[in-house]
Amino acid sequence: MVALLRLVTYFLFYKRSTKYALASFLFIMMLLIVWRSGFIRVRNIPSSSNKYVLSWQWYYMIENDDDSSKFPELQCRVNNCIFTGDKNFFGGDHSRFDAIFFYQKVLELDEEYLPINRSDSQVYVFATVESAYNYPACETYFDDFFNLTLTFRLDSDISWPYFLVRDLAGQVVAPKVDVKWPEQENTSISSSTLSILSNKTRAAAWLVSHCRADSLRDEYLTRLSEHLYHFSLEIDVFGKCSNIKCRYGNCAEMFTRDYYFYMAFENSFAPDYVTEKVLHGYNNYAVPIVYGGANYTRFLPPGSYINAHEYHPYNLAYIMYQAIKNPSIYYEYFKWRNFYTIDAGPPGTHPLCKLCEVLNTGELSPKTYPKFRLWWNLPNGMKWCLPQSFWNEMTLVHVDNSHIVNMY
Ligand SMILES: *[C@@H]1O[C@H](CO)[C@@H](O)[C@H](O)[C@H]1NC(C)=O
Ligand SMILES: *[C@@H]1O[C@H](CO)[C@@H](O)[C@H](O)[C@H]1NC(C)=O
Ligand SMILES: *[C@@H]1O[C@H](CO)[C@@H](O)[C@H](O)[C@H]1NC(C)=O
Ligand SMILES: *[C@@H]1O[C@H](CO)[C@@H](O)[C@H](O)[C@H]1NC(C)=O
Ligand SMILES: *[C@@H]1O[C@H](CO)[C@@H](O)[C@H](O)[C@H]1NC(C)=O
Repeated sequence: MVALLRLVTYFLFYKRSTKYALASFLFIMMLLIVWRSGFIRVRNIPSSSNKYVLSWQWYYMIENDDDSSKFPELQCRVNNCIFTGDKNFFGGDHSRFDAIFFYQKVLELDEEYLPINRSDSQVYVFATVESAYNYPACETYFDDFFNLTLTFRLDSDISWPYFLVRDLAGQVVAPKVDVKWPEQENTSISSSTLSILSNKTRAAAWLVSHCRADSLRDEYLTRLSEHLYHFSLEIDVFGKCSNIKCRYGNCAEMFTRDYYFYMAFENSFAPDYVTEKVLHGYNNYAVPIVYGGANYTRFLPPGSYINAHEYHPYNLAYIMYQAIKNPSIYYEYFKWRNFYTIDAGPPGTHPLCKLCEVLNTGELSPKTYPKFRLWWNLPNGMKWCLPQSFWNEMTLVHVDNSHIVNMY
């Protein structure tokens, strides 16, 4: 770049004076530097009909540093929101944003890294897709800080589920606290589903990324594996924590072709924390075996999954064995396909769309969270703010004692 400029300057001004050439060159360089620093970048002129949202931390839908947010790609019904990661957007005055979007890592920030000036009319949004076990809120300054919560918890102002269960008319059925699962008549299985199911040969797959999540999950799986062994069945472990690669160069295809079950074990127990892990099962015709802190009735169609939390590992092993041996039992797990779809939802359903609507209607404000830490951590989770030495391994996760006793 510099060499090119030098060349251009050289040819333009060679016949005149070298002083003039040097001055021109410096001038061009200065322009370039000023332009790169964003000083004269062309951007949207703030308009009162738009809502401005600053993303305080990096979030992939909202790029840092410029206006190139991916918000338009979400195809929201209300789309007059400008999302930016540029803290200097209003010349550094953070109080002029309609909202500030704080993503989960905000909870690890020291107070000095939070915005200094704030207006009473703006909305501080707490957004996360991770559980409080992974991101507890410990610092007192987070009490009476946020105005709006956007999380997987169903009691958030805007809920941010990992997936939607919709009926065939496209209406969202779950996740919902007051979910309704009507009695469904049709128990037949389509021939295309049957042909996929009939080729399966391996019991269960588990794709793990959190290698040592919590002791109870691993403990349960160890015991389940021992019992499966007696039925000549196995759980095959893939992912970062095992050296085994998915066959066919594609995990999804492998789950579909080979596996009866998929272990959708969450890395932590938290209310409503049901992640995309269940989709690895549903999308790939492998029945999800779930394990987590949610009331799964509110999330998944009845009869479409097995909740390990309800069974002694021996009983679960036996249930898996029976289903694998008796196709008619196994096929029952797939009748939901006659009534529902389970996926991340169509365009326009992203929670940022709802956020944009809320900023326009103002329907949720004014709202405050004077006891945010208690709301987010829940009473049982306040201990995560204590040093590790205070923790008792068995209390790392929120489970009832009967579950622990059941396991042995
Ligand atoms: C916030 O800071 C900016 C720049 O320092 C200043 O111009 C503005 O008046 C401040 N706003 C409030 C509400 O304090
Ligand atoms: C689970 O959720 C369903 C649907 O909301 C509710 O009827 C049931 O009582 C809940 N179970 C528990 C143990 O809270
Ligand atoms: C029942 O489900 C099967 C398989 O999806 C479908 O072919 C059939 O049309 C359904 N029958 C009724 C009465 O809805
Ligand atoms: C099932 O296996 C048969 C024989 O190997 C193969 O021809 C067929 O394509 C497989 N079906 C599916 C849905 O993969
Ligand atoms: C947001 O929360 C702060 C702190 O609790 C409060 O002072 C402010 O009035 C709230 N703003 C809105 C719009 O609810």
